[in-house]
Amino acid sequence: TSRTAIIAGNWKMNMGPQQASSFAREIIPALGRVIQHNPSIMSILCPPSISLASVHEVLEAMPTSGVELGAQNMYYEDKGAFTGEIAPGMVKELCTTVILGHSERRMYFCESDELVNKKTLAALAYGLRPIVCLGENSEQYDSGETQSVIKAQIQQSLAGLSDEQASQIVIAYEPIWAIGTGKAATAVGAGHVIHFIRHTYASIYGESAAQAIRILYGGSVTSANIGEFMVHPDIDGGLIGGASIKDDFVEIVRISA
Ligand code: G3H
Repeated sequence: TSRTAIIAGNWKMNMGPQQASSFAREIIPALGRVIQHNPSIMSILCPPSISLASVHEVLEAMPTSGVELGAQNMYYEDKGAFTGEIAPGMVKELCTTVILGHSERRMYFCESDELVNKKTLAALAYGLRPIVCLGENSEQYDSGETQSVIKAQIQQSLAGLSDEQASQIVIAYEPIWAIGTGKAATAVGAGHVIHFIRHTYASIYGESAAQAIRILYGGSVTSANIGEFMVHPDIDGGLIGGASIKDDFVEIVRISA
């Protein structure tokens, strides 16, 4: 396809400022070497918010790497009395991208589709690229509810986008049963759901927006299986958890390029 693939690393709650800085100094040059020769791929590092500045500093010292920076979450209000939260404008000072509605946020921090929608609209208003996460849990998967769950998440989390915004977002399909379990979906299975996501999105925002957006797969991706996902025509990249805080991340990007 003509869509630029994305390999994003979600470091989750790993790597404080010092460790993040030394890991960034190690992998960014290697990632840069891959990306510079392959304009069809981009790579985004998403460290914990407290480590964004230290990774940003490393990126600034290597301005030609092409590697981008993303946050793992943010609040939707501009500023004010929201203890512990970070605002879209703050994220925008350092980042191009923000992950929103990750299943861990939905599960442990009670994030609803309505909240994820507010955050998505705020990210777009600030010129950030949202990576909005969707996915069914294992019970829903076992009882064949995957499509109805995904459809409701799309309708609610991605409501109210303008025509322009509708072609700018990124979706990550992450079946919850595949996250951190070593039990990745098959490329055919994930591709099938991602095809359904694009189809559902087209019914809301039209075919050209649906063809423009990148839809990533996430859940136990490593350098051993990324190749299978990338050859599927509906899959535009990966959201990588565990393997993103290892050298394997560079290998994942290399294989995807
Ligand atoms: O955001 C990343 C996903 O939750 C996948 O995590 O690669 O450790 O399974 P994982």
